[in-house]
Amino acid sequence: MRLNFIFLFCISTVSLFGQRIGIIGAMPEEIRILTENLEDKKIVKYKDLTFYEGQLENKNVVIMKAGIGKVNAAYSTALLLEKYQISEIIFTGVAGGLHPDALPGDIVVGDSIFHHDYARHLANDEYLVRPTQNIANNQLNPLYFVSDSTLLAKARKVIPNLKTLKVGEHNPKIFIGKIATGDVFLSNSVKAKWLYKTFGALATEMEGAAIAQIAYQQKVPFIIIRSCSDNANNDAHLDFQIFMKPAAENAIRLVLAILQE
Ligand code: ADE
Repeated sequence: MRLNFIFLFCISTVSLFGQRIGIIGAMPEEIRILTENLEDKKIVKYKDLTFYEGQLENKNVVIMKAGIGKVNAAYSTALLLEKYQISEIIFTGVAGGLHPDALPGDIVVGDSIFHHDYARHLANDEYLVRPTQNIANNQLNPLYFVSDSTLLAKARKVIPNLKTLKVGEHNPKIFIGKIATGDVFLSNSVKAKWLYKTFGALATEMEGAAIAQIAYQQKVPFIIIRSCSDNANNDAHLDFQIFMKPAAENAIRLVLAILQE
């Protein structure tokens, strides 16, 4: 009995030691500062993906570039979970701000996230966003995937003292709320307003809900952290070029503060 207990204790301790925090960005610019600061960096190729193992803020992490869009995000998240024991997933990257006060460089912490393009589009142009389905059990997923409460609490705790990068004269603000994901780079003020008014989404991007769906189905806690590179309006593609880098850095600053916490 006692030996059994010791054996079980050893097994669970060893598997805990093997755990890593998965940090995902879509584009190289969204993870560069993290991979450059990784301690004991090891580059691991698995199937057609590259993983960066090491320590950040004394935590074991594995960093991955997922690629742009929902299919790339779901595929690479599935491979990440196949290859590693992932204790939690943190997504870091840029987004189009939808809140009327959101400016480039502002951070949006997703407390929930949904697919805005998984929908029934009716003949009368009514557009009904629908929940996805879990292929393992045919059950409907929630419409909104909710971020992990512990990770959210850590974010809330570090936000007041977070040193963000100024964008021009602007001291970035931090929002916490809903994020809308779709396979579309939104550069359309009418649709941007519709997403904000209909769903209360504060930002839009192209990967978060796909990662959240895989994480939810595999019971892995997650959080999505984004910073605004643009406002998803008619100028979004121009603003994106100017503000993508400082925005990516602001999201990373919050990720590092959460890891420290
Ligand atoms: N990522 C950054 N800006 C975006 C936008 N306007 N639409 C979708 N994804 C984005």
